[in-house]
Amino acid sequence: MNLAKKAKTKLAAMTTVKLCFLPTPLEKMRNPSPLFKDVNIFFKRDDQTGLAMGGNKARKLEWIMADVLKKKAKSIITWGGLHSNWCRQVAAAANICRVKPILILLKKPGSQVTFDDGNPLLDSIFSADIRICQVGEKQKLMELAGIKDIVDLIYKEEEEKGNKPYIAPIGGSLLEGSMNRPLGALSYVNAFLEILQQAESQQVSFDALVAATGSGSTHAGLLAGAKIFSPQTKVVGISVSEDKTTISRYIKTIARETLTGLGVDKKIEPEDIIVFTDYIEEGYGILNKETANKIRLVAETEGLLLDPVYTGKAMVGLLDLIDKGYFKKGENVLFLHTGGTPSLFSYGKELREFFR
Ligand SMILES: Cc1ncc(COP(=O)(O)O)c(C=O)c1O
Repeated sequence: MNLAKKAKTKLAAMTTVKLCFLPTPLEKMRNPSPLFKDVNIFFKRDDQTGLAMGGNKARKLEWIMADVLKKKAKSIITWGGLHSNWCRQVAAAANICRVKPILILLKKPGSQVTFDDGNPLLDSIFSADIRICQVGEKQKLMELAGIKDIVDLIYKEEEEKGNKPYIAPIGGSLLEGSMNRPLGALSYVNAFLEILQQAESQQVSFDALVAATGSGSTHAGLLAGAKIFSPQTKVVGISVSEDKTTISRYIKTIARETLTGLGVDKKIEPEDIIVFTDYIEEGYGILNKETANKIRLVAETEGLLLDPVYTGKAMVGLLDLIDKGYFKKGENVLFLHTGGTPSLFSYGKELREFFR
């Protein structure tokens, strides 16, 4: 059996819990602005995965919740920023699986806690057990280090109550907590196959996929998928939080573990990891005028909603790369819309000010 066939068979044999509406639509941009300079842009609508207002985390949770149930856990502990899409979707998936969601929301100095809109409102509608944890400016959201004490404390509490806990790392792939396989990234190898099938039926082949990169898990899964099934397709990440060294290390580690998990003996070479860190601008979750303008541009031309933290910044990156000639006229580029739309409402006031 060849490598691709072997990986496909292995992937298909893994247990998942159905949480998403798949396949998500893949469609060509309808009214490209001149800024796209005749690069053919397509959208993969993972904002439409269905679970709790959609987004990329829903795919990942199909794999993660299967592991939670296999390990007979009764609660799932995870963490993220105050406006975390990941935490919102964990809460919804956990409720479906009758597992208690415990969300540690990390509050950085100067940020306001409000449950009146966006993801925090949805977390509370899902009745998640929410713990607000004040952290320093330098705390890395991705890493367990720095918040391990609070995670351990909650873990113990749950154990004592007889609620066997499962620790799911932010982003759903880093091998920390209770996870011994990069489950989130495996779901994006599967998504890559879904994209290839749709590309075939639409008679198009993609030169590149572009996506927002946070923990690196979606990127790593797509990269592993490209390595196995379509090495000529570039996977291009637009980092929204981490510097180049850190995010490249995450992507490499997760992609390597993903390939190993699929029994594929292929190396991730440094040139395979294409990630741009120039569009983080003022920092993670900080909205700027350019991102606000690109959100509006896509809303006006495509009737499509991007978000201020991830996909808006990825669109800034895509357009800038087109402007610089990185993507060329006639190339087919797929923009993965990873969701995040609920946080539009948390940024409503700032967006309106930028639009003035
Ligand atoms: C809307 C959205 N897009 C992209 C990402 C980045 O995904 P990943 O953590 O897999 O890099 C996230 C992560 O939280 C997200 O919420």
